[in-house]
Amino acid sequence: MPPAVLVLNGPNLNLLGRREPAVYGHETLADLEAACVAAGSDLGLAVTCRQSNHEGELIDWIHAARETTAAILINAGAYSHTSQAIPDALRAYPGIIVELHLSNIYAREAFRHHSHISATATAVICGLGSQGYHLALRAVAERLAASAQHPDG
Ligand code: DQA
Repeated sequence: MPPAVLVLNGPNLNLLGRREPAVYGHETLADLEAACVAAGSDLGLAVTCRQSNHEGELIDWIHAARETTAAILINAGAYSHTSQAIPDALRAYPGIIVELHLSNIYAREAFRHHSHISATATAVICGLGSQGYHLALRAVAERLAASAQHPDG
């Protein structure tokens, strides 16, 4: 069985392609998710994608992923800057966590410069658009392969 990876997108990301395309690009969420599934399968990962505009639903998916997945890629949208509950759920997640942002949050409004999720994440990628998701999947695949070879670290 290939290792399972959950790709979680938070609020307003369902509007990708139509929402502020100058900032977030023209690719839709469906395009992004299909590319993640395809890239995952090339890398030997079973990728599942979920999007919600609701904090509690994102938290429920993080809890469910504890038992079933090796990694979570998360773009929590504006919840990254406001939520304490999502980082708490991530602190209870034992696998690899990669925080993602399509835009470079540090080059934007001051309220976007801090993410509560970053301190819970294994790694953070921002500003590379959808390429960030692909790089994150590659990094996850390489880390999982390395830990399978050297289980004691
Ligand atoms: C975002 C950046 C956030 O500040 C914003 O609220 C989003 C998208 C990004 O992908 O660049 O919704 O997470």
